[in-house]
Amino acid sequence: MGYSRQIRRNRALSSVSTLLLCFLCCIFEKSNALSSPVFACDITGNPSLAGVRFCNTEAKVEARVIDLVGRLTLEEKIGFLGSKANGVSRLGIPPYNWWSEALHGVSYTGRGTNFSSQVPGATSFPQVILTAASFNVSLFQAIGKVVSTEARAMHNVGLAGLTFWSPNVNIFRDPRWGRGQETPGEDPTLSSKYAVAYVKGLQETDGGDPNHLKVAACCKHYTAYDVDNWKDVHRFTFNAVVNKQDMADTFQPPFKSCVVDGNVASVMCSYNQVNGKPTCADPDLLSGVIRGKWKLNGYIVSDCDSVDVMYTRQNYTKTPEEAVAKSLLAGLDLNCDHFTGQHAMEAVKAGLVNERAINKAISNNFATLMRLGFFDGDPKKQLYGSLGPKDVCTADNQELARDAARQGIVLLKNSAGSLPFSPAAIKTLAVIGPNANVTETMIGNYFGVPCKYTTPLQGLAETVTSTYQPGCSEVACVEPDLGSAAALAASADAVVLVMGTNQTIERENLDRVDMNLPGKQQELVTQVAKAAKGPVVLVIMSGGGFDITFAKNNKKITSIMWVGFPGEAGGLAIADVIFGRHNPSGNLPMTWYPQSYVEKVPMSNMNMRPDKSNGYPGRTYRFYAGETVYAFADGLTYTRFDHQLIKAPRVVSLRLNENHPCRSSECRSLDAIGPHCKNVVKGRSDFDVQLKVRNVGDREGIHTVFLFTTPPAIHGSPIKHLLGFEKVRLGKSEEAVIKFKIDLCKDLSVVDEIGKRKLALGHHLLHVGSLKHSLNIRI
Ligand SMILES: *[C@@H]1O[C@H](CO)[C@@H](O)[C@H](O)[C@H]1NC(C)=O
Ligand SMILES: *[C@@H]1O[C@H](CO)[C@@H](O)[C@H](O)[C@H]1NC(C)=O
Ligand SMILES: *[C@@H]1O[C@H](CO)[C@@H](O)[C@H](O)[C@H]1NC(C)=O
Ligand SMILES: *[C@@H]1O[C@H](CO)[C@@H](O)[C@H](O)[C@H]1NC(C)=O
Ligand SMILES: *[C@@H]1O[C@H](CO)[C@@H](O)[C@H](O)[C@H]1NC(C)=O
Repeated sequence: MGYSRQIRRNRALSSVSTLLLCFLCCIFEKSNALSSPVFACDITGNPSLAGVRFCNTEAKVEARVIDLVGRLTLEEKIGFLGSKANGVSRLGIPPYNWWSEALHGVSYTGRGTNFSSQVPGATSFPQVILTAASFNVSLFQAIGKVVSTEARAMHNVGLAGLTFWSPNVNIFRDPRWGRGQETPGEDPTLSSKYAVAYVKGLQETDGGDPNHLKVAACCKHYTAYDVDNWKDVHRFTFNAVVNKQDMADTFQPPFKSCVVDGNVASVMCSYNQVNGKPTCADPDLLSGVIRGKWKLNGYIVSDCDSVDVMYTRQNYTKTPEEAVAKSLLAGLDLNCDHFTGQHAMEAVKAGLVNERAINKAISNNFATLMRLGFFDGDPKKQLYGSLGPKDVCTADNQELARDAARQGIVLLKNSAGSLPFSPAAIKTLAVIGPNANVTETMIGNYFGVPCKYTTPLQGLAETVTSTYQPGCSEVACVEPDLGSAAALAASADAVVLVMGTNQTIERENLDRVDMNLPGKQQELVTQVAKAAKGPVVLVIMSGGGFDITFAKNNKKITSIMWVGFPGEAGGLAIADVIFGRHNPSGNLPMTWYPQSYVEKVPMSNMNMRPDKSNGYPGRTYRFYAGETVYAFADGLTYTRFDHQLIKAPRVVSLRLNENHPCRSSECRSLDAIGPHCKNVVKGRSDFDVQLKVRNVGDREGIHTVFLFTTPPAIHGSPIKHLLGFEKVRLGKSEEAVIKFKIDLCKDLSVVDEIGKRKLALGHHLLHVGSLKHSLNIRI
């Protein structure tokens, strides 16, 4: 999203002049109170609104919406189809900008949000890919809750909207994708859990009333959108060719969970086409699936400005009016930007779409605003009315940003005796690299103004005396200063190298073409390691993974850690891990592929499964069996954990109906729906898998227990897939019992070639680390 306003910096600088302007505006507004209301349904300021049903907070949302729509002219209605809604002054409705963003903190990427001297910054959490690496569902929700509190606080002082177009739950299918950083990674189970938890954190009110939203979230970009700009393939014109099987078991699950389990208030359709149709004009994908099957309670919004794109870039329609009509008829409710608003009247006149379709769209939009309290009068008198600037960037919120970063950081290599550093032994540290003292790089994309920054150098220097050389002036690393960097390394007890990327290497609208570290970074790392006299820690700050085989195999590089884009407090979190104040527990949410992978796999091939006929290797840990640099779920800790299985069935026998065809003929799988899915074990459809986890190392630690299953090889089933994960903190020698509840047909089924879920009969292999258990499903 967002092709025009990528970066806005130092906006607070202009706040003095803005204030002056505002003052003038206020005087102007006073004299025009009626023509430009500050908030809707201001009954005190506009007594004619008393008794008007759409302002009546006691009435049902549906009734209020019908009343409001009934009062509008067609022209006024069309004004509510675009993200910059005009408002209707005769009804006391102010303009509203639908576009706000809160991917990992309140951001100013959307035009509905600004910072000012009143709220100069908001808490900037790690970029999502790092938060996902924590595999901590409570953390996902806790971050969402803080972000929505800060968002409401900003809304109350007129600096933010109520509708936030976050999170991004597309599958990180290809390692080159520039927006992989925004997502929870490559696994549908993790992505689904992230979506549900973050959406709940944003949306749920403290009272838990489902008719009220704290702020409205939006799951995007629906669907199969994960190519931005790679070689000659561009997101505006890309036609994703997706088979039914991949659609049902990879691309759709996070969206389905987001709507069905997360009750999200919005879904955004993407730019790309899926199988020849723009997603925003596909009635099956929108009305059929999102609203029909999943029962979205909310609005469907287009990416900015994908309705325009389907006409101007894709030539999908002959006229603008046709694009507007097709998307509305497919189930689109709101267009980011103004294209629909511009052409809807002509589309109606031409008979391409009728007023009824427009009523339906704006009703969905209004219903969302009603649930947000937009039509409930003064926001300061509502449930979150007391929130204000004092609630943004609080000490607790900033501490959560630091904790989120350290919960996510992934330790990938640690030779015996390297990390954690003891400040008693390591008295001087050489901190080297183009990302060693960066600020903005740490917050990735879709950022706002953070509360404050602590760079890696600053974080480390709080604990030990640290010297610094960038080594390369920037991440592109065209001309490294090898001599100075090596000399610095030789002079210190230990070295921390902070390498990786920034938004000029991987970002929205820019995919990578290779997996090697940018420019001459590898040479810098190698020379520094060679010169170092003590341990060398390589820190990779990036969204995507890298082929760092050279570092993995270099004995002088004693430790490697990946820190994503760690957010405003990144430097503190990195220091917490390096000095052992926090025992690392993050795990990779995506596979790190070797360079050879991207040389043979076109990014535009959407197939998840390998194809023997042409050597296509497949994608993600679920289907790719080739060599990896680091694998999904890899991650080390400073202690050790031991698993022991204490309960899991060996056999599950299914009872089939008298007339079930598999009673008379041999079957390898059954439909994952039907009476045989119930009454599996003692009248229930689920069973428990229980494990004992013990901390057998010498310090407290946190551990994620991953339960994978390998189904029988049928229907192109995955090599393995994640059934569940559970995070636990254990003191030295402490143990805990972890319970997974497995729903037989829901969790152990696979998707067949035509997109239907099937339960394979035979041996399913459950894995937890090196522990394996065979479960036989039979009839
Ligand atoms: C998960 O995150 C929550 C919220 O930050 C935190 O309180 C909890 O300790 C974390 N869980 C583990 C096992 O670290
Ligand atoms: C943010 O600033 C822009 C221009 O600087 C302005 O058009 C917009 O109305 C402002 N939005 C809010 C929510 O203050
Ligand atoms: C759309 O039409 C224009 C003008 O005829 C052409 O340049 C462009 O290549 C077409 N785009 C696609 C995706 O077919
Ligand atoms: C590190 O970055 C901070 C923040 O930009 C800056 O104030 C400081 O001078 C930098 N330190 C060095 C040694 O360059
Ligand atoms: C990102 O890297 C580029 C190229 O190395 C550099 O020009 C730019 O200043 C960097 N941006 C930030 C925000 O550090």
